[in-house]
Amino acid sequence: MKGLINHDDIAKVLVSEEQIKTRIAELGAELRRDYAHLDGEIVLICILKGAVMFFADLARAMDLNLQMEFMGISSYGNERKTSGIVRITKDIDTSIMGKHVIIAEDIMDSGLTLSHLIQLLSSRNPASLKVCCLLDKPSRRETDITPDYCGFEIPNEFVVGYGLDYDGFLRNLPYVGVLKPSVYSGEE
Ligand code: IMP
Ligand code: MG
Repeated sequence: MKGLINHDDIAKVLVSEEQIKTRIAELGAELRRDYAHLDGEIVLICILKGAVMFFADLARAMDLNLQMEFMGISSYGNERKTSGIVRITKDIDTSIMGKHVIIAEDIMDSGLTLSHLIQLLSSRNPASLKVCCLLDKPSRRETDITPDYCGFEIPNEFVVGYGLDYDGFLRNLPYVGVLKPSVYSGEE
């Protein structure tokens, strides 16, 4: 993909910039209420790369003292279907032992990636561990997991924008849109 973003590749805007902004303010207030009184430090972990926009906006909306950490994971599988087998490509730089950990993730789909990640981070003995997802596709779940905090439940459609990619591109769309199937048909 080159040149200007072709907005015609987007079938429809599913979550607008304005809706994202409003909902993140609400999530921030919810987290502030739940975490402000806790003993122990808070660590907000960004799951690269998809959560980057959500993470940056959420951290500011929370208005709490916290550490911002980054974790790179790669799950084997293709662009639209994960195997759930997670490999860490970049680990966080701090210990989470005894701390309150919040994972910021772009989307929960099958749930396999996050359930692996939860297993892995739990073994480091945080005081608590919660998941905050911008988007949730509950109809796709293959394991018994739900996000503790969720921005929007969405139908089973492949979405891009606000961090979510197609083949590495379109993460920088300011909204979440449904990609036209014609863009990825011919694949697989
Ligand atoms: P899960 O393990 O199936 O829950 O996969 C979650 C990961 O798959 C997310 O972190 C995304 O990187 C990717 N993913 C799932 N659905 C979409 C989508 O609709 N658009 C872009 N990426 C997606
Ligand atoms: Mg991806």
